[in-house]
Amino acid sequence: VDSLRWQDGVLEVLDQTRLPLVIEYVQCTDYLAVANAIKTMQVRGAPAIGAAAAFGYAMGAREHQHLPRAESLAEMQEVKQVLATTRPTAVNLFWALERMERKLLEASEREPAEIADILLAEARAIHQEDLELNRKMGEFGQKLIPDGARILTHCNAGALATAGFGTALGVIRAAHAAGKQVQVFADETRPLLQGARLTAFELMQDGIPVTLITDNMAGYVMRRGMVDLVIVGADRITANGDVANKIGTYGLAVLAREHKIPFYVAAPYSTVDLNLASGDDIPIEERDSREITHVCGQQIAPDGVKVFNPAFDITPNYLIDAIITEKGIIRKPYQLNLQKIYVEG
Ligand code: MRU
Repeated sequence: VDSLRWQDGVLEVLDQTRLPLVIEYVQCTDYLAVANAIKTMQVRGAPAIGAAAAFGYAMGAREHQHLPRAESLAEMQEVKQVLATTRPTAVNLFWALERMERKLLEASEREPAEIADILLAEARAIHQEDLELNRKMGEFGQKLIPDGARILTHCNAGALATAGFGTALGVIRAAHAAGKQVQVFADETRPLLQGARLTAFELMQDGIPVTLITDNMAGYVMRRGMVDLVIVGADRITANGDVANKIGTYGLAVLAREHKIPFYVAAPYSTVDLNLASGDDIPIEERDSREITHVCGQQIAPDGVKVFNPAFDITPNYLIDAIITEKGIIRKPYQLNLQKIYVEG
């Protein structure tokens, strides 16, 4: 299944809130619908959010193409603003919108209908490119995975979180495709259960052995020697190599260090934010308390209980053994080595 499909002028978004029980695509016919799909997490995962926003931006241009050029360009600021305020942590969203806006400015002398076509082509390029980046990351990353490895992962950094193949799960897929016998422990990932609902589903579809555990079992399985390495995705990586990822990632990194288990992060360049010095600067999304007080619509906590629901945490660079990118495997010092591959080329 694809997280996103562009079909006859409509963005079809696989509704991930209903997986794995229902496989259904939501039809987004305008940019507001795309913004809503991102906000409600029908589409989620940093690269998939970026690609969806790019399509949303292109749809916004199409919706305003009947206006005179100056007015249609002015409307695009609102389109960008609406898409940008859907989710704050994954930098891929802002990266994609900036890229789309650069394209718009380059083409601003053309007729609005032509601009809309150019933007649609750019959105398709972002989507297609993400798939290629994931395959490259998989090729580099699988070298870190020994035959027989028992791998723990958190949240869903798979095909569903991207244009396809996945980041962390892409590395696991590439290892599996290379003939290695890998086994995966998937953390269920409270509160929205991306591990149970999405990662378990994806890996089972591919025939990769997966065992589902609850988040609070990670320490136990590590201490019993049942895990050889941890690999996760990222929502934003700052200039010093700090990583924002799904809440619970930091705890896993601390546990991995205590048990001398390698901890790897896989992410493409669209997730790297060299404008921020450290993880302390990353905005952390806080979500609705109902995500904690309710499970599948059923209330499980007392009425009116106070809730804290940060959706992401920061793993400091020193706990990360390597960052797997489309350009290769980066090791410490991250500050220097991220700069080397992404700025100096
Ligand atoms: O809140 P989500 O489900 O969008 O969070 C997703 C994650 O934290 C993923 O690990 C991250 O986006 C990497 S996806 C390749």
